[in-house]
Amino acid sequence: MAVGARSRRAEIARMTLRDLDGVMEIERAAFKAPWSRQVFIEELERDWAHIDVLRERAGSPVRAFANYWLVRDEVHLLNVATHPDTRRRGLASVLLGHVIDFAWDAGCRYITLEARRSNQGAIRLYRKFGFRPVGIRPNYYVEDQEDAIVMLLDRLRGKG
Ligand SMILES: CC(C)(COP(=O)(O)OP(=O)(O)OC[C@H]1O[C@@H](n2cnc3c(N)ncnc32)[C@H](O)[C@@H]1OP(=O)(O)O)[C@@H](O)C(=O)NCCC(=O)NCCS
Repeated sequence: MAVGARSRRAEIARMTLRDLDGVMEIERAAFKAPWSRQVFIEELERDWAHIDVLRERAGSPVRAFANYWLVRDEVHLLNVATHPDTRRRGLASVLLGHVIDFAWDAGCRYITLEARRSNQGAIRLYRKFGFRPVGIRPNYYVEDQEDAIVMLLDRLRGKG
């Protein structure tokens, strides 16, 4: 996939409390039922949880983040979001590539995620990285009862 010059200079780091305002701005713009600040604070305290933030260059504002859990031999991707002002520049792709590298380095066999059935942009993004739909969770999202599509990546580096 073509990745723009901006995203090639991108910096990815583990989220800290100093990033909370920037992450909340993206979260509120991105999701129908955004998580609260408290949920992110609790997530930062969980040993198995990771939140990575992406800046277009060192010291600039947070432009995207990814939240995922490492559970045994699986990474479960909870959220990926990009600030509305900087979408379609390859930022989520850079983060997703980073999560796949993390899973590989951790010896994982799978990455799983759920996406809203209507979220065709996100589903297209995941398909580009080799994720495939493997199931449906009916009425998964409590706020509007939309179905979730369960997606799986089980060939992290072109291997089984
Ligand atoms: C989905 C989301 C994370 C994509 O972030 P992004 O930084 O814009 O993604 P990228 O620029 O890396 O996109 C890579 C590819 O994914 C696909 N894609 C991404 N957004 C798309 C959209 N809105 N419509 C169609 N395809 C899309 C395209 O194939 C795109 O490649 P292209 O721009 O060369 O056509 C972003 O739109 C977002 O934050 N949405 C709200 C939160 C959300 O839905 N997160 C996913 C939860 S499952």
